[in-house]
Amino acid sequence: MGFYCDYVFPRLMEWVMAGDEFIRLRKGLLASAHGEVLELGIGTGLNLPHYPETVTELHAVDPAQLLPNTIAERSARLSFPVRIQRDTAETLTYTDRRFDYVISTWTLCTIPDPIPALQEVRRVLKPGGRFLFLEHGRSDDRKIAAWQDRLNPIQNVIGCGCHLNRQIDRLILDAGLAIVNLDRFHMQSVPRLGGEMYRGMAAKSD
Ligand SMILES: C[S@@+](CC[C@H](N)C(=O)[O-])C[C@H]1O[C@@H](n2cnc3c(N)ncnc32)[C@H](O)[C@@H]1O
Repeated sequence: MGFYCDYVFPRLMEWVMAGDEFIRLRKGLLASAHGEVLELGIGTGLNLPHYPETVTELHAVDPAQLLPNTIAERSARLSFPVRIQRDTAETLTYTDRRFDYVISTWTLCTIPDPIPALQEVRRVLKPGGRFLFLEHGRSDDRKIAAWQDRLNPIQNVIGCGCHLNRQIDRLILDAGLAIVNLDRFHMQSVPRLGGEMYRGMAAKSD
């Protein structure tokens, strides 16, 4: 991935994405998670302190290994085991219908092929399981969306593969998941270009 994405970007993420507004949003999203949980793109483990004790086991996949010592320290404070695989979300190795919850926070922007990844989410969710997402993406405001399109190539480089302009709800629906609830808002602490949020819950549609 290179020096910038391996060493600089994870530290930038720790600095920017651990702010108060991020913490409040992470905590709120994760509050209902329980049982066996899978997190896509664990990054530096910023969600770890916010999982409730109702989680019995946390699995995570990420092709990168970002700040492994930080992840290990955060995992050690939890009451349940954390098992991380260096895999991509597009090719999960878990058996069908394994998880009660799958979580994605600020990750669908970066996964190279989000629809196959979301089809994998659908496959590994138990019947009645839930996909919780908290993602930035394409604005409903046409002017902002046009700027997101223009600046996307630059964001791709400085955000190590991150896209500004993905329509997250469309991707979820196209992968065959049903959206149970969706909340659109923009973050106060992030410029609109990268702070147009999609927060919600999805389930298997069959
Ligand atoms: C912006 S970071 C977000 C990290 C974390 N989810 C959070 O909320 O702080 C995006 C993460 O997606 C990971 N990622 C990139 N491609 C991926 C893929 N194909 N499957 C799973 N994760 C991926 C990156 O390595 C990175 O850790």
